[in-house]
Amino acid sequence: TAQLKKLAQDAGKMYFGTATDNGELNNTQYVNILTDTDEFGQLTPSNGMKWFAIEPEFGVFNYSMGSVVADLAEENGQILRCHNLVWHSQLAPWVDALTWSKENLTEALIAHVTAEATHWKGKCYAWDVLNEALNDDGTYRNDTFLAVLGPEYIKIAFKAAAAADPDAKLYYNDCNIERVSNKSDSARKNIIKFLQDDNIRIDGIGLQSHFTVGRSPSLDDQISNMRLFADLGLEIAITELDVRVPDPPNSTGLEMQSKVYEESVGACVQVDECVGVTVWDFYDPFSWVPDTFPGMGSATLYFANFTKHPAYQGIVNALVNG
Ligand code: G3I
Repeated sequence: TAQLKKLAQDAGKMYFGTATDNGELNNTQYVNILTDTDEFGQLTPSNGMKWFAIEPEFGVFNYSMGSVVADLAEENGQILRCHNLVWHSQLAPWVDALTWSKENLTEALIAHVTAEATHWKGKCYAWDVLNEALNDDGTYRNDTFLAVLGPEYIKIAFKAAAAADPDAKLYYNDCNIERVSNKSDSARKNIIKFLQDDNIRIDGIGLQSHFTVGRSPSLDDQISNMRLFADLGLEIAITELDVRVPDPPNSTGLEMQSKVYEESVGACVQVDECVGVTVWDFYDPFSWVPDTFPGMGSATLYFANFTKHPAYQGIVNALVNG
């Protein structure tokens, strides 16, 4: 039987991995696949390292939720991607509720990033330092950090992360930047060059890759886009790959889905600077998609009965053939 991590390594990639979450770990059949290290060489906690979990009250830190997945990865010798230090969503409510001066929010932001990155120092292959800071038109997202600090908050976050965990690769991670577009151009200009012009370290770009059948970027567009990021000296990772289809899917939908997975993984295989691929969980019942997009689903690699989608073979094809 094919094994994704092994095939990914044969293709010159560092890993093939998956996101997972604490509440999923009591499903034995699921965990058997999750911890098959020839299948998944890398884990990302899908919720446990987010601000609401880590610093639920101002100055009160709790690493227990994130540690469950971090420890599992360590036990199994799986690479850990850490997700995430700064994001407007799943933020602790106090951040948006308080009235901030620039000085106080700067201090709170540095304290959060420093504490969390220090806690897992040396354990994260990569940190998603900043998540989804751009609107789909490419403008900066107007969250509390931008409103109080302006775009400077981006520099503050990356500087603090670099100081706290010098060995982790520092990433900007976003959705809808998988093709050449206003938004991916903006990521290059308003996040990456913005940091680089000030000599602040950023090492990687995370292309979330939450795709919909019939609307995904072409293989060539994904490759061209990755090369534009590589031209800036960055490595690339596909960080949250899934492909939603109208649910329940028919065989045409599943074949189209397979093609989308194949093209995305294939783009990574063809671009040397793309280090690996993470799927945003691999088991349909644990996917975020049906709750968020009513009528859509079946976005992962395994059906509820643990049989594989055709997309699994699509990924194998991409890893074997590019
Ligand atoms: O913790 C509560 C629990 O107490 C409650 O009983 C339960 C009932 O619904 O909800 C739980 O919270 C859920 C949380 O995940 C933790 O499981 C939220 O409802 C649910 O909305 C939340 O969804 C997460 C989502 O981010 C929020 O935007 C998904 O699991 C997670 O996979 C998803 O991941 C994001 C990435 O971080 C960033 N990119 C997009 C991606 C998909 O949205």
